[in-house]
Amino acid sequence: MLLKLPQKVVLLQEARLEGKVVIITGGASGIGACTARLFVKHGAHVVVADIQDDLGSALCAELGGPGAASYVHCDVTEEADVAGAVDHAVAQFGKLDVMFNNAGVVGAMATSVRESTKADFERVLAVNLTGPFLGMKHAARVMGRGGCIVSTSSLASAVGGVASHAYTASKRGLVGLTVNAAAELGRRGIRVNCVAPAGVVTPLALTISAGSAVDEVAIEANMEAAANLKGVGLKAADIAAAVLFLASDDGRYVSGQNLLVDGGISVVTTAFGFFRD
Ligand SMILES: NC(=O)c1ccc[n+]([C@@H]2O[C@H](COP(=O)([O-])OP(=O)(O)OC[C@H]3O[C@@H](n4cnc5c(N)ncnc54)[C@H](O)[C@@H]3O)[C@@H](O)[C@H]2O)c1
Repeated sequence: MLLKLPQKVVLLQEARLEGKVVIITGGASGIGACTARLFVKHGAHVVVADIQDDLGSALCAELGGPGAASYVHCDVTEEADVAGAVDHAVAQFGKLDVMFNNAGVVGAMATSVRESTKADFERVLAVNLTGPFLGMKHAARVMGRGGCIVSTSSLASAVGGVASHAYTASKRGLVGLTVNAAAELGRRGIRVNCVAPAGVVTPLALTISAGSAVDEVAIEANMEAAANLKGVGLKAADIAAAVLFLASDDGRYVSGQNLLVDGGISVVTTAFGFFRD
């Protein structure tokens, strides 16, 4: 027997960012590059803003060149660079719809506050917190009414004991900055959110794990052992999908949130052994 087809065919992969202009800081690598690829597939024009010029330029060429993606050198700790990246987006594509503040560093792997240095603490805050502040400031300058700002925080923004003091402070501070910006910019219809990944294998994660795991497979095994949600495995594509949700109309009434993509690890504990097989 033949099944009757529905009257209207629903396109499962419809473009969800058609014609939108997006800046992705830290877009040359890892989560940022994965998001750039997904956003271009969904019809966005993407400006990749990074300090890795060769990698960023090669990615933009792969994404289809100037009509689809454009690279700009931008150190997010330098206000002139961030202002320049925003102006570049407007000059190249006519407007800015989405600012993705994603550039980040882990800094030194000091696990004791006594061994942590002021210089490293300030450097991590400069990239991970001052960077997004500058991104929000200059995005808000050119966005009229409406728009969307997403920043990459971390599981470390929600729980202690998973990263250095500097990194944890920077990501928790970023959530504070996000809710305050959501309060101010909501009046202009601009939504401001964070996406908060647990561990994903990227060059940054390889830096964190240096010494404790030898390769990507070993790091993923460590992450699986620590995970609450077993047998799934967090990928950069999962973070990109969450950012797409926040940046597109699917998330049109979501603001001031820190969207944890962590398989529930930040809200559960198995330390009491309550659930047993
Ligand atoms: N990978 C993880 O496990 C994980 C977990 C939680 C949060 N995060 C966050 O995700 C974001 C992306 O990290 P990733 O894992 O993709 O790492 P990554 O190292 O692959 O990417 C980070 C990018 O940021 C860029 N960058 C660094 N300093 C910069 C600066 N001053 N100005 C401009 N660009 C700069 C780097 O060149 C790089 O391209 C970071 O904010 C990180 O803190 C990552």
